[in-house]
This record gives sequence, C-alpha cells and structure tokens, in this order.
Amino acid sequence: MRVMPSTIKIAPSILAADFLHLGDQVAQALEAGAEYIHMDVMDGQFVPNISVGPVVVEALAPMVHKAGAVVDVHLMIEEPERFVPQFALAGADIITIQVEASKDVFGTLKMIRTHKARSGLTLRPRTPLLSIQAGLPYADQILVMSVEPGFGGQKFLPEAVARIKRIREWLTAANSMAELEVDGGISTANAATLVEAGASVLVAGVSIFRAAVPIGDAVRALRAAALSAAVPS
Ligand code: DX5
Ligand code: ZN
Repeated sequence: MRVMPSTIKIAPSILAADFLHLGDQVAQALEAGAEYIHMDVMDGQFVPNISVGPVVVEALAPMVHKAGAVVDVHLMIEEPERFVPQFALAGADIITIQVEASKDVFGTLKMIRTHKARSGLTLRPRTPLLSIQAGLPYADQILVMSVEPGFGGQKFLPEAVARIKRIREWLTAANSMAELEVDGGISTANAATLVEAGASVLVAGVSIFRAAVPIGDAVRALRAAALSAAVPS
C-alpha cells in the first residue's frame, strides 16, 4: 500500500504561532485547508520546555471541528496516562504519547481509544524503532520525530527519512491504515522526500506560522511541495 500524495494531510503546529493572535492564525491555516491542527504539550520534565495545556486545546477545538479538521495533540509529558481523559474531554481527536514517557504504553494507547480519541505513538529521534513495533496494533497514528522534541525551529534530522520508510514497510505488512506523521524541521524543501518515504501527515510550525508569506500561502505552498512527490500509482 502506497500513500497517494492526494491523501497527504498538513498539520500546522501552533507552537510557532503568535499567541496574541492564536485564534486568528489558526483560522487562516484552516481556511487554507489544513486538515490537522497540531498542538504540542510540554511539561518541563520530559522535555526542557513548557508549552500549553488542556485550556488551549479546549479554546481551539470548536473552531478546528467546525472547519472539519482534526485536533492533533502531541504529549511530550511524563506519565501521559494521567492526562488522557482531560485532553480527550478538551476536544483532542488524536492523542499521541512518547514511548519513553509511559510505564504502560499499550494500556495508555487503549485508554486513549476508550476515551473516543485516536491513539498516537511516537519516539525520540535516537530511540530505537523496535521500541514501538509491538505498539503498532494499538496505534491509529505513528509519529516520527525529525528533531529532538522540545522546541520549534530546529534543523531537520535526515535520519528520519529511513525511519519513515521502515515504519511504512511495517504498516504495509500489517495492512494497517494508521497515519504516518512526521514532525520537526519540515518545509517545502523536504516535504516531497518525506511523502516519497511514506509519510501521510506533515507537521510544520515555523515554515507555516513564521514564513515570509501569509499563513494561508505557506499552507498551500507546503501542500504543493508534498504533491510534487514522485509516488508511483
Ligand atoms: C517539537 C514539536 C514540533 C514543533 C515543530 O517538539 O513537536 O511539533 O512545533 O516545529 P518546526 O516545524 O518549527 O520544526
Ligand atoms: Zn509536535
């Protein structure tokens, strides 16, 4: 099973947005057709940074849902199982946990589904891929980090490409419909390569919210770059 470029989803990451104008900026991304809005949650423990929590998810979720888009919550927090119910209640459609952060990865992925959200599993760039393999049946989305989690605006780690290819092979072998998302340092320069490797969801912060062009244009440019991927039909 190949990912057709037409099914690629763009996931603007609000971490790079201007928080004084957050609603307006997310509206611009949605207007331009973003399928996901990616929200990074950091606790100052799992990563050396603190970001937003359930109140921000709750504030944005109605706008995202009204546009027919998906609230994509990436939890970079220790023991994420403590907060799954709260994020689900706040309107998260997908809740992704870091494999390194939970004592009970399978249990937490199942718990996310019990709370009527889609379960996501991710790992740091240097964590062996085998650490997530057994979790694949419990995950509706796999996220490959292409930067060390914690901060936006970092340089893309090219090793991510081989990791995406490998996970795409696993998903294909398992006949899995799970999304394969990639996050960190993504721009028009590498979007096609990531789609060719098998990614189906592209997260982008700085290249959308801090681009030299308006937010909507940046979303469209990233999609155009993704669609230029040479994927055989
Ligand atoms: C990093 C976050 C990313 C980040 C991506 O910990 O998970 O979602 O916002 O930002 P850019 O696209 O600027 O690298
Ligand atoms: Zn993220």
